[in-house]
Amino acid sequence: MKNKSNWWIRVPVIFFIIFGLMEYFIDSGDQPAIIKYPITQLFLLLVLVILGAIELILSAIENVMFQTLSEEAQKRYLAKKEQKWEWKWGKETYIKLLGSKPMEAESEIVLDHNYDGIRELDNKLPPWWVYMFYASIVFGFVYLLRFHVFNGDNQDIEYEQEVALALKEIEEYKKTAKDLVDEDTVELLTDASDLSAGEKTFQSNCVACHMADGGGGIGPNLTDQHWILGGGIKNVFHTISEGGRDGKGMIAWKQTLKPAEIAQVASYVLTTLNGSTPANPKPAEGDIWVDPNAEKVAPAEELNVVTDSVSVALN
Ligand code: HEC
Repeated sequence: MKNKSNWWIRVPVIFFIIFGLMEYFIDSGDQPAIIKYPITQLFLLLVLVILGAIELILSAIENVMFQTLSEEAQKRYLAKKEQKWEWKWGKETYIKLLGSKPMEAESEIVLDHNYDGIRELDNKLPPWWVYMFYASIVFGFVYLLRFHVFNGDNQDIEYEQEVALALKEIEEYKKTAKDLVDEDTVELLTDASDLSAGEKTFQSNCVACHMADGGGGIGPNLTDQHWILGGGIKNVFHTISEGGRDGKGMIAWKQTLKPAEIAQVASYVLTTLNGSTPANPKPAEGDIWVDPNAEKVAPAEELNVVTDSVSVALN
């Protein structure tokens, strides 16, 4: 019985192989299995104990068998054990790959030239180099066919494909991460589910000052086209999130409401309350708000101005 390596190498190596396989095969999401399922710690401990037990048994058997040997056989056995283990095949291949002649045989390959006593050896190219050279030819040929004859995807196309894929993933992500909105990215929501959620938020937080129908009380009328702090989804989102002017009574709701909820209640205010007719409307406050990004609202008016200026010029 010949031990090729010592137990202090064997046990950890086998242990970590089992550990690695366990982590590989147990699906535990982001966390390592050893943390997610504490039972695996027990399993590993068991593995360690069993490995130790096997080592003990093996060395006991070795001991018993050793005692049964004759003295001479014992000596031979010990000598064999002392011998250093070598990876013969690896060593031979390494020397073969270098391809150099041993010193003793150099006389066979020395060339006739003699430059002031300096002579030249005609060594063959080292096989490792030659094989790599052939491999690069094969690689080059395959590459040429793939990309220049059969027009495989080049880097530009691959880049575009990946960007397109990433954009799609961002879209998907945004759908599930509604709380990512802020006043710059918020869009008017029109889904019935969003609007009814917005209505709920409004009923439970805002009616005290704005009335259930938005007609206004302590707070201004939300149903008319006049806005103190600006209309449009972005301004309304900003007002609700950051609050009104100091001392007016409209607090910053971002402490209480999530961004998604603010977007919903802002959309509810704009799509449902705004433009409706409340029971006791508060007189309009602020200015009529015109969306600066909308198409030119009054082309007729503009036209008049132009004709006027033209007529002025003519006069
Ligand atoms: C404590 C009373 C109070 C509550 C509650 C309240 N508001 Fe206000 N709200 C006000 C006042 C007062 C103003 C006017 C602020 C100003 O003039 O700066 C205002 C202004 C607004 C404006 C801007 C109106 C404009 O003309 O520019 C919007 C939109 C608004 N509130 C929505 C809401 C929403 C949505 C809620 C519930 C989440 C809410 N408010 C809760 C008192 C309140």
